[in-house]
Amino acid sequence: MKAVLVCISFICITNVFVHSKKNNKPQCNIQTKTVKNKLFPLVGKSREKRQTCKEYRVVHTNFRTYFKSLMANYSNYVPPYYPSKGWQRDENFVLDIRMQPEALVDLNDVDERMTTVLSFLVEWKESNLVWAGMNTFVYSVILDADMLWKPHIKVGNPHTSQRVKTDTNDKLTLEFKGEVTWSFVWTVDTRCKIDITYYPFDRQYCLIVLVLSSDLKDYLNFDHTVPHLALDNGNWKHMNTSIYNYTNYKTMKTHIVIEYTFDRKSVTPMLVFMAPVTILVSLSPLVFVLPNDGSERLGIAMTVLLAVSVYMTLVVDKLPDSSDPLPLITTVFFAWYVYNAFVTLLVLINGRISRISDKRSVPKCLQCLVR
Ligand SMILES: *[C@@H]1O[C@H](CO)[C@@H](O)[C@H](O)[C@H]1NC(C)=O
Ligand SMILES: *[C@@H]1O[C@H](CO)[C@@H](O)[C@H](O)[C@H]1NC(C)=O
Ligand SMILES: *[C@@H]1O[C@H](CO)[C@@H](O)[C@H](O)[C@H]1NC(C)=O
Repeated sequence: MKAVLVCISFICITNVFVHSKKNNKPQCNIQTKTVKNKLFPLVGKSREKRQTCKEYRVVHTNFRTYFKSLMANYSNYVPPYYPSKGWQRDENFVLDIRMQPEALVDLNDVDERMTTVLSFLVEWKESNLVWAGMNTFVYSVILDADMLWKPHIKVGNPHTSQRVKTDTNDKLTLEFKGEVTWSFVWTVDTRCKIDITYYPFDRQYCLIVLVLSSDLKDYLNFDHTVPHLALDNGNWKHMNTSIYNYTNYKTMKTHIVIEYTFDRKSVTPMLVFMAPVTILVSLSPLVFVLPNDGSERLGIAMTVLLAVSVYMTLVVDKLPDSSDPLPLITTVFFAWYVYNAFVTLLVLINGRISRISDKRSVPKCLQCLVR
């Protein structure tokens, strides 16, 4: 039994080996030579193999000189919609920009700042850098980003903290048909006008403005997708996205405006600010249930007054100080504060009146009120 198993497995292994040997022979002259040699060290030993690999190396050095001359005739200042031959612009040129917000890092209402992680995939065709991949066996190269022309993309509404972090090893992929792929990730701080009139039930509209050269406007193909829940965080819920664009012909810039709508998740502010203050404030009239001797009433009324003012400072810290119009919650807190002050005043007057001796007669004007 064992012997049979060993036999079968031996046949299998030899089969696989022979197979891979057969499959790999013609593939050596395609660029994956080193990998194949590492995997199958025995394969490289045959004579024919060495010859094909030598051939490959010749092509490889040819490609180097060829690519050098290709790049020597190339200028990275000239946009690829100007072909090397002819005068006409290339009308088929397409600049594909795919943008995707990966995460909402922060939406800070005090600083009026939105921090997002954006990933970009930019694709276009460089018609001046096309080579015959079939003949050279080199199908794509990876180049430093500044070697080729690339569109200038800037943020049009940066926040003063001006954080635009790009990944450092910025590379482009150039394929033999001329397709260029450029991908990068940005962490950007953008200014966001916060309107907290209806805090904590507010809705914010935050923009990201991308600025490009206006020449590109006719070729631009802008695509934007928001992955599910990517723009939600503990405080905010992403509701909607709208995109529009305009061109300023004076500055020769095209602006792409991406507007995100966020609703505040109001449960936390409700639990932290609104509910405790409401309970406190509704408790304060109950001081009149207490007996009117000593200073218990006054103590409780004053405590509630102080607590409301402490909550007021807490809430004000959460709001931008330049908010215009006035947030309703400040007005509500102020009303509560005045109400509590009124209760305290009543307690004081009440305490004073109860200490007036019974012998003194009630003033005439108050007597007529009772009658
Ligand atoms: C680069 O330009 C030179 C001179 O104009 C030309 O001889 C050469 O063939 C060009 N190279 C390529 C790769 O087009
Ligand atoms: C999202 O925006 C579009 C266009 O601005 C609008 O028609 C749509 O009703 C909005 N959807 C929601 C859920 O607000
Ligand atoms: C810009 O807006 C116009 C009209 O609203 C639209 O046809 C065009 O596709 C937009 N361009 C981009 C790049 O979104």
